[in-house]
Amino acid sequence: MTKGSRGAEARALRQEDRMDLFEAMRERRSIRGFTDQPVSRALMEEILTAANMAPSSMNTQPWHFHVLTGEVLENVRRGNTERMLGGVPPSREIPAHGKYEGVHRDRQVEIAKQLFAAMGIAREDAERRQDWVMRGFRQFDAPVSVVVTYDRALNDHGPVAIFDAGAAVHGLVLAAWAKGLGAVINGQGIMQSPVVRECAEIPEDQVILTCVALGWPDRDFAANDVKSVRRDVAENTSFQGFDAEGQGRRLRREAAE
Ligand SMILES: Cc1cc2nc3c(=O)[nH]c(=O)nc-3n(C[C@H](O)[C@H](O)[C@H](O)COP(=O)(O)O)c2cc1C
Repeated sequence: MTKGSRGAEARALRQEDRMDLFEAMRERRSIRGFTDQPVSRALMEEILTAANMAPSSMNTQPWHFHVLTGEVLENVRRGNTERMLGGVPPSREIPAHGKYEGVHRDRQVEIAKQLFAAMGIAREDAERRQDWVMRGFRQFDAPVSVVVTYDRALNDHGPVAIFDAGAAVHGLVLAAWAKGLGAVINGQGIMQSPVVRECAEIPEDQVILTCVALGWPDRDFAANDVKSVRRDVAENTSFQGFDAEGQGRRLRREAAE
């Protein structure tokens, strides 16, 4: 076998293992209920190796992944939940988004309604609504959590490091999905970031951005079937300069000048 054909065979094997990217992007949804089945370190390494391929401004690659499980994750959950219940104001390391308004608030309400309907939580059922919020602070009792941070040195270079780390997080949840794992990006899980910093031993030169709770999806957990609604892409996209046949062409240089 030649070197070239070995390469082709390896590519073909990888191809079989691979879920179609468009399918994964279409089907992925946040997973908030997990089975007891453990997640291996090897699988996490594979997923994070894929997420690590994200593009970044000037190739700065500012993100870091802190993969927590077992006692470390329990300590994070406990500390986060106790402080939130105890009325300690949220303490995150990136600016808070505050209250959303207008269409953004409408979309926030829409997904909340879908999730509560799936879980059979009535509008007036304050206790179960509170329980749902507490689940978020506990990272939905996932077996693994990836705390995503970025290099503090880039804080003086505008928001682009957060953009870069966000791209890596999208890669992470898609790669997890392609492997059959479920994930939810979980801002609630790092609401008390000093706790996360201490328990996970996050170095001072990194800023905590978010965490991603992961595990094998519990098929009986109704909220896992909720598919959030998207606007049609025609509503948020504009096309400029396409020709009458709908082709985007580059002009010959002299024509452009
Ligand atoms: C930055 C960020 C933070 C999020 N934090 C939470 C969270 O704390 N709790 C939660 O249940 N979902 C959280 N989510 C998940 C969103 O609610 C979810 O992505 C959105 O409703 C769209 O649903 P989908 O992921 O199923 O498509 C977060 C997502 C992002 C991008």
